[in-house]
Amino acid sequence: MAQTVPASDPAKVRLSIDVSKPGPKIDRNIFGQFAEHLGQGVYKGIWVGPESTIPNTRGIRNDVVKALHAIRVPNVRWPGGCFADEYHWRKGIGPQREVTLNPNWGGVVEPNTFGTHEFMDFLDQIGSEAYLSVNVGSGTPQEAAEWLEYLTTTQPTTLGKKRAANGHPTPYKIPYLGIGNESWDCGGNMTADYYLSQLKIYSRFVRNFNAAQQGQQQMQKIAVGPGGDEPRFVEWTESVMKAWQKHQWSWDMQGLSMHNYTVVHWDKKFASVGFGETEYSQFLKETLSMEGLVSKYSTIMDKYDPQKKIPLVIDEWGAWYAPLPGSNPGFLVQQNSLRDAILAALNLNIFARHADRVRMTNIAQMINVLQAMIMTDEEKMVLTPTYYVYKMYVPFQDAIFVPVAFNAGTYTHGDVSLPRVDAIAAKDATGKLWLEITNLDPNQSIEIEAALAGSNVKSAVGQTLTAPKVDSVNTFERPSTVVPKPISTSVQGGKLTLKLEPKSVTVISVEQ
Ligand code: AHR
Repeated sequence: MAQTVPASDPAKVRLSIDVSKPGPKIDRNIFGQFAEHLGQGVYKGIWVGPESTIPNTRGIRNDVVKALHAIRVPNVRWPGGCFADEYHWRKGIGPQREVTLNPNWGGVVEPNTFGTHEFMDFLDQIGSEAYLSVNVGSGTPQEAAEWLEYLTTTQPTTLGKKRAANGHPTPYKIPYLGIGNESWDCGGNMTADYYLSQLKIYSRFVRNFNAAQQGQQQMQKIAVGPGGDEPRFVEWTESVMKAWQKHQWSWDMQGLSMHNYTVVHWDKKFASVGFGETEYSQFLKETLSMEGLVSKYSTIMDKYDPQKKIPLVIDEWGAWYAPLPGSNPGFLVQQNSLRDAILAALNLNIFARHADRVRMTNIAQMINVLQAMIMTDEEKMVLTPTYYVYKMYVPFQDAIFVPVAFNAGTYTHGDVSLPRVDAIAAKDATGKLWLEITNLDPNQSIEIEAALAGSNVKSAVGQTLTAPKVDSVNTFERPSTVVPKPISTSVQGGKLTLKLEPKSVTVISVEQ
């Protein structure tokens, strides 16, 4: 059926890709995940136990491992979140696990059957790396130091021998270490000065003894940074960065965390499903505020760290909606729709455009919680629209950012105006060019014409993700409502043309 382009619509969006001006590397860690002991994120989502009838390897679900392996998860942040500041690692090792509580998240029982070794095994199975959050809120520097000794020493210390006795004689690699979580709120309500005194102590004494992680490969210690737009977070960021600029030899940090969720009203959260264009456009407008926040905190960091040694690590981000009716409100269960796929693409593009400063992020959270990749129900598993965005973006991991110029135009609904189009480009290690284009407009398709400055497009192939409605979801019964499909492209006179479906995320590989 022929489609008519309304007269008010610019017929085409022209993209100009300048491969002669490569930018920074889009660090693969930008595609990191977060798995907290929260609801069914770990228990039932990852861990079912070796005795389960659900197919598993040493207690870890095979279906989930296979799905995560395919999206090349670079790192997983664990065990929290707020949970991290109440976690005591010794309760989760050895044959006898202590049964405790999880007061933050529903007050449920924490069996500690998924502990240090199970987490490291999970990482091995999915091919990922550890980002541990140590307990600053209710733990001690000694407890955290002993955890790292347990994990990383090769010496025959009591803790080293205990690790071997518990099944892992060789030391573990711990590339990333978070020192506290939201220490300005759930992590202990600290002032910036109080937190800084803790940071200095933890940074000094929580050592990584793994011989392979000295010098260049040293563990990256990530300090608590801002959590949104409030003035107190400006002060916090200033204090931590200012202290770091003048830091003594005896302490250091290699990253500053930032948290920012997309929520329109915390006290009256949007629904994750069963919404229309109004909520679609309002929510996407809200998510685009990530750009302002990243710019704002990058500017502060630039003042104290003009060489950009310290990455801004956005280790919690994503959509936060009202809990699904009938679910435990402490479990943060929500649906994941086409809107979330578009939201993920917009945020990943913001991070890519700031790749000189943003070198690691962790979407919240991996399974069954908030903006998840995967949802499970006993033996059933479904991949969400957000999962498919992460899959489509795999070629952007460690690719070199390439500038794309375009006039985005405007999509308007009621009093909300958004750019119609968003796009990024990057070159991978083999020299192949990748282009991502998002059409935010839920009603109009868009003709794209892409040209390369100083070279010709020879051919292009790609995939697009869209669905009938802005709130279309994948369910256990219908898992393929929002899945990527091939998109047809044409190349003429060295230029690439294609038509983007309304409300779609598209990734194209371009041969030049
Ligand atoms: O991701 C859920 C919670 O949100 C985390 O535990 C906490 O750090 C944040 O407030």
